[in-house]
Amino acid sequence: MKHCIYLTLAIFIFSSCGNKNDKLLELKVKELEKKVSESYKPEFSAIMIGIQAHHQKLYFSGLNKNWELAQYNIHEIEEGIEQIEEYHPEHDGVNTGKIAGQMIDAGIEMVEDAIKQKNDTLFLESFDALTNSCNACHLVSKHGFIKIKTPSVNTFSNQEFKTENK
Ligand code: HEC
Repeated sequence: MKHCIYLTLAIFIFSSCGNKNDKLLELKVKELEKKVSESYKPEFSAIMIGIQAHHQKLYFSGLNKNWELAQYNIHEIEEGIEQIEEYHPEHDGVNTGKIAGQMIDAGIEMVEDAIKQKNDTLFLESFDALTNSCNACHLVSKHGFIKIKTPSVNTFSNQEFKTENK
């Protein structure tokens, strides 16, 4: 009987100890998950400078009727906007995550449509609409002084924008 009590006690201690370890492990995992999720958070302006580069590259791709490269660049702009939604839902008291897509999605779709149709006139029109939506979002997110315009020169001289198959 005595042995039985000791055994029960031992099992009890052992199992409660196991629970304690489980809890500690769980806390450690949670802590690590938090660290990982916070370890890479690109700054708002870094994402925007990336978008700015793709905006310029998009323009010269379209101008050269390089539709494959144009599609690549508009997709990268789309991904930049998704990063704003993910990493910067709020900025300077503005719901940037919520408004980003609302402001720019239509412009992105217009550009994608022009690319699909391989229509250069439509491309230039839709590119203007896209640029306007960049500026509209800057205005509503208290950064109206950042004005985007149609690029006049291609600063990416180390990349080929022309294509054989026009
Ligand atoms: C959420 C709406 C929103 C949209 C859509 C948006 N921007 Fe921005 N952009 C911002 C905000 C806010 C800032 C200021 C970021 C900061 O305070 O660091 C900014 C900053 C910038 C900057 C300045 C970066 C620097 O540090 O020099 C550039 C360039 C830029 N955006 C380009 C664009 C282009 C090009 C587009 C469209 C293709 C675009 N943005 C679309 C909100 C937006």
